[in-house]
Amino acid sequence: MGIRNVKTNLSSLTTMNSSPDQLRVLIASSHPLFAQGISSLLEKRPEMDTEVVGMVSTIDEAMDALKNLHPDLVIVDYDDDQVNREEFLARFVEGEGRLRVVLFSLKEGGDEAIVYDRRTMAASQIEDWLDGLSQRTGEPEPLPVEPDETPEQPKRRDSMRHLILAGLLVAVLIVGSYFLLTTIELLPEQASLQAKPIDDLFRLDFIAIAVLFSLIIGLMVYSIVVFRRRKGDETDGPHIEGNSRLEVVWTLVPLLFVLFLAYYGSVALGKTTAADPQPLRMDVIGTQWSWRFEYPAYGIISTEMVMPVNKQALLNLSSTDVIHSFWVPEFRVKQDLLPGEDFERELRVTPIEVGEYKVRCAELCGRNHYDMLAPVKVLSQADFDAWVEAQTGPVSDDPVLRGQAVTQQYGCLACHSTDGSEMAGPTWLGVYGSQEALNDGTSVTVDREYIIKSIREPGIQIVAGFQNIMPAGIGADLTDEQIEDVIAFIESLQ
Ligand code: CUA
Repeated sequence: MGIRNVKTNLSSLTTMNSSPDQLRVLIASSHPLFAQGISSLLEKRPEMDTEVVGMVSTIDEAMDALKNLHPDLVIVDYDDDQVNREEFLARFVEGEGRLRVVLFSLKEGGDEAIVYDRRTMAASQIEDWLDGLSQRTGEPEPLPVEPDETPEQPKRRDSMRHLILAGLLVAVLIVGSYFLLTTIELLPEQASLQAKPIDDLFRLDFIAIAVLFSLIIGLMVYSIVVFRRRKGDETDGPHIEGNSRLEVVWTLVPLLFVLFLAYYGSVALGKTTAADPQPLRMDVIGTQWSWRFEYPAYGIISTEMVMPVNKQALLNLSSTDVIHSFWVPEFRVKQDLLPGEDFERELRVTPIEVGEYKVRCAELCGRNHYDMLAPVKVLSQADFDAWVEAQTGPVSDDPVLRGQAVTQQYGCLACHSTDGSEMAGPTWLGVYGSQEALNDGTSVTVDREYIIKSIREPGIQIVAGFQNIMPAGIGADLTDEQIEDVIAFIESLQ
């Protein structure tokens, strides 16, 4: 038969024939020691009147024992690999018969036992639990440890309540954070046509930021407050296995949103790069650390960016030295300027608001990067025409004035002062005709020859105390006549 009849009545030691009131216990374990341990636990409580009627290690043996020994309770050895506890539970708890099955794990020392869901019980709690076992009248007492036996309805109602409260908190946070994001004026004035699709993207981003922030922070704060560990509660949280439906949802929703963002972003990119048939062409040249704006149609070179309103400007951007970045926040669009003739970049801007703005360099480009600024003036068409007229008027016949204009246009004054103050390059005040010590220990007289050489081949003779940072390509942009004018201007600064 395979059933080892232990037949130990440990509670009273009197009756070999079990009385009808006795609790008949069947033990499922392949270790006799387990039965001994359970027996000694029961033995300490003679009033319980229990009898261990047998010991089995397989479900078949248990079925036989059910017929022959009529147990009331099956105690399954949790730690016994030979005993398939899932099978016992399925067969006896959820399946036929109102038989009570308890999973039991004995620890060494006998001070602690682990029951069913692996909750650790103190010795005193085991006593209480054993008390519960012995009450045989009516429906089985709900075990303190069996989560499945807590009533379903209140649990569901509780979850609903948490869901509604947490949902309300998240909703309030979403509205609040979106309101904040849109009212603290993160974005300056919209001064270009291209700013609109970019701001629409920003607005969508703000919504996504508000929702994600509120969902994460809201649920986290709610959980921290509502589900915090109460004083004296030593129990573990419920073991949750995972939820395929939830995982599919939280994968698909962000995926669809990101795909939508890609589509929406490409539409916005199309709008910001849309070309007008007759734009105003401008060359924008970045140099450490100044800007130059050239208008090929008018032959104008300027250190100010002057634009007519409501007309698209097509900017060709290039750099004479390192990478710079053209950025007027009110226009939103931004583009790097790259050194090298093959790397010209294009940017289209249609200013829609008359006003004064500032172009700033948005790429760390060296010592005076912070100061690489230039004014932007958006004028009415009439004012713009007047400006063009003034710029293209008759050239002065004073070489000093012409030279001053050249040094402004080409950004020389970003590094060379005319008042003796210290900047990235030597001051021009009183420099003409002076003796200057050089980096290599020699010295030189600052004359016409030296100035031409310093412009055409900067870096060959560096004045002591200064670095070799003069734009190498600057000489190629200047004509001999312009350089003569520059010399005249420097000579005049005494
Ligand atoms: Cu140019 Cu920073």
